[in-house]
Amino acid sequence: MKILVINGPNLNMLEKREKEFYGDITLEMINANLDKIAKSLNVEIQFFQSNLEGAIIEKIHGATDIDGMIINLGAYTHTSIAIRDALSILKKPFVEVHLSNIYSREAFRHKSFISDLAVGVIAGFKEESYYLALNALVNYLKSNKS
Ligand code: DQA
Repeated sequence: MKILVINGPNLNMLEKREKEFYGDITLEMINANLDKIAKSLNVEIQFFQSNLEGAIIEKIHGATDIDGMIINLGAYTHTSIAIRDALSILKKPFVEVHLSNIYSREAFRHKSFISDLAVGVIAGFKEESYYLALNALVNYLKSNKS
């Protein structure tokens, strides 16, 4: 089973962002922890981060060999119909993740252009959101395997 983790803009700067929303950890550390969890679950995991909308779209276009995705689009969550359209083309199951609870923040963060396409959404648990998402996605993929 192959899982792709996609992180969007500014998530490579996590340790410099507001600690009350994002905690005190780097994306590299989160990815290292995800790697350990993936090994314990016996699944293959790949990581991709970009600050560029087009690069994220192209990554999604090329992700035809993966079984599922964990996606944190950062601010593109609230703006990118183009990434939404790429996800509609790929048609692979994904979990939408946010470190912060986007619904307890500014109104412009309450709208996600991808939530209705996701298998599920996990937000507000800081780094733990990713670990919960990986466990949930693997269980989902195992139980939906034909
Ligand atoms: C975020 C929430 C977004 O609103 C914000 O623009 C981010 C990070 C989160 O993980 O909480 O960059 O996706």
